[in-house]
Parts: sequence; C-alpha cells; structure tokens
Amino acid sequence: METVLSGIRPTGNLHLGNYFGALQNFIKMQDTYNCFFFIADYHSLTTHPTPENLQGNVKQVLAEYLAAGLDPEKCTLYVQSDVPEVAELYLFLNMNAYIGELERCTSFKDKIRNQTQNVNAGLLTYPTLMAADILIHKANKVPVGKDQEQHLEMTRTFCNRFNRMYKVDYFPEPVAFNFGETLIKIPGLNGSGKMGKSEGEGNAIYLADSAEAIRKKVMKAVTDSGPTQENQQKPEVVENLFQLMRVVSTADTVAYFDEQYNKCAIRYGDMKKQLAEDMVVFVKPFSEKIADLIHNDNYLNKVAEQGKEKAKASAAKTIREVREIIGFR
Ligand code: TYM
Repeated sequence: METVLSGIRPTGNLHLGNYFGALQNFIKMQDTYNCFFFIADYHSLTTHPTPENLQGNVKQVLAEYLAAGLDPEKCTLYVQSDVPEVAELYLFLNMNAYIGELERCTSFKDKIRNQTQNVNAGLLTYPTLMAADILIHKANKVPVGKDQEQHLEMTRTFCNRFNRMYKVDYFPEPVAFNFGETLIKIPGLNGSGKMGKSEGEGNAIYLADSAEAIRKKVMKAVTDSGPTQENQQKPEVVENLFQLMRVVSTADTVAYFDEQYNKCAIRYGDMKKQLAEDMVVFVKPFSEKIADLIHNDNYLNKVAEQGKEKAKASAAKTIREVREIIGFR
C-alpha cells in the first residue's frame, strides 16, 4: 500500500489555503492509503517562536486538524518533535545537500528577504528537513499546495542522490499530490496573491473564524473599479475573488457573477456579500468543532501520544536501515 504524508507548521491557525491546498486532499486519502500527518514544530523554530507560543500553537493546530476531518484511527497524526529520528535523517541528508542548490531555493530567497535579522542555517536547510519528514516514512504521495512544489523537487533530488551514492533502491521517489490536475494556490483577500498567515492583516479566512470576522474581512477585500468592456479579462485581484468563490460557492452562483462581470453589470458589494455568506456556511461546522475540541486536553494528549508511538515505530525502522546502508554499525 502506498504511503501518504503531509504536514503543517504550527505558526498560526488553519486557513482556507491550508485546507483546500493540502488538508482536504489528505483527508480524502485516509481510507485507502497508509497516511501520516504531522505538526511541523521543528520547522517553526526557523522563525524563533517563544516556548509559550510553540506549545499553544501545537495544541491549537491539533484541535483544528481533528475538526477539519483527520481521523486518528485512520491516519498517524503526530508532532514532529516527538519523533527525533527525523532530526537524525536530517543530519544524514544535510551531508549530501549542496549549499548552491539550497541557496537557489525560492522559499529561502523569500525568507531571507523578509527576516533579514534572522538568516539562520535552519532556513537554508529547510528543504533537507522537509525531505527528512517525507523520507523517514518512505512516503510516495505528498498532498501540498503549489508553494511547496519546489521543496518536493528538492526532496526527489536528495532521495535519488542517496539511492545513487549508496547504490541502493531504498527510498521511493515522492510526488506532490492533488486530486485535481495541478497543485493549487488559494489567493488571499488583500491582493497579496496568496492566502497565508504571514501575508498581512485581513488576508486569510481561518477555520476558527466567527461569522462576523469573516464578513468583515470579505467586505474589505481588494477589488478594482470595475470592468469597462464586455468580456474583458479579469485583473488578478478580481480573479482572486472568483477563485475563492469557486471553492466555497455553488457553480450557479459563480456563473451568475461571471455573467454580471462580462456584461459590465457587476456590483462587487453584492458579490462580496454572497462570498461572505458562503464562507460563513462553509466555516461554521469547523469552528464549532474546534471550539469543542480545544478544551478537551485529555483527548488531544491521547491522540498525540498514540500518533507518537505509531510514527516512532515507522521512523525507527527507517533509521536502522539507513544507518546500515551508510555504514554505521
Ligand atoms: P505551511 O505550514 O506553510 O502550509 C501547510 C500546507 O498548506 C498549503 N498552503 C496552501 N495551499 C494552497 N493555497 C494557499 N494559499 C496555501 N497556503 C498554504 C501548503 O502548500 C502546505 O501544503 N514546509 C511546509 C510544511 C512541511 C511539510 C513537510 C509539508 C514541513 N515538512 C513535509 C509536506 C511534507 C509548510 O511550511 O507548509
């Protein structure tokens, strides 16, 4: 049976980008694949969170994953730092990862531009840690959003290099996965292009958001002054709104506003109202479940404990075999 793996950094609440880009695909795979999902808390150290932040966020995202539909009876749901075997594989992979290729990575270039005071080695080697996450369970499919595509390419490079160097056929080549034809990028509301936790105020809709919060953010979404010619191409900020509508609204609703746009009769206020209401309906079951789960410490601890045992068993086996391949006794 093929293995599926994905993860999310615990640096904020889950938003619709995380959900539609990665989580939703993963959830659909729980019944038919050997599935691992983890909270990437080692990765979040690259931005230097305080100990309080780190813990609080791990608990929050665990509750949010469960509320979103991850089933701990069907998949292995664990916290990355509970499985230090990952750190050992990261060390091995770093010995065969070259500075040049790590420096060329787009996410590294973006990050050093945005956090000039904290250009640490963890940022440079972020792709090897990610490769270790994936290879530690010999994953075949990795449901992620478009922004992770290059990281997956690098994982394949490290994976193939390992197999070649040691003349083994040990690690399978993992691919970024989405049930649709391509990986997707969910846009944000403030014109920044991508929905994300660090893309500025009002940009993201979270699964834990209240109806009021959603309405407020959607009504403030950036648009332009409206179409001036029939059937003209939509500028990016407008296309973004339509794209958001495509994931939460019915096909009829999207078609209606599309037609209004093409006839130059669109009223963005009406479109935003509709989008906000459709998002409220979509988010409500999630936010209710999150509110329930977040206070259930016993259950959350039990889930993390159970995931840790299962993930450690799989990781320990890989590390034992990798040590042997490399030549350690
Ligand atoms: P992170 O925490 O930034 O995001 C988690 C997942 O959500 C996806 N995503 C999006 N997809 C579509 N549109 C968006 N606007 C959007 N925003 C976020 C991301 O593509 C990702 O799939 N490096 C990873 C975490 C990670 C990981 C791994 C993932 C660490 N090790 C191993 C898979 C396998 C990250 O920072 O994701």
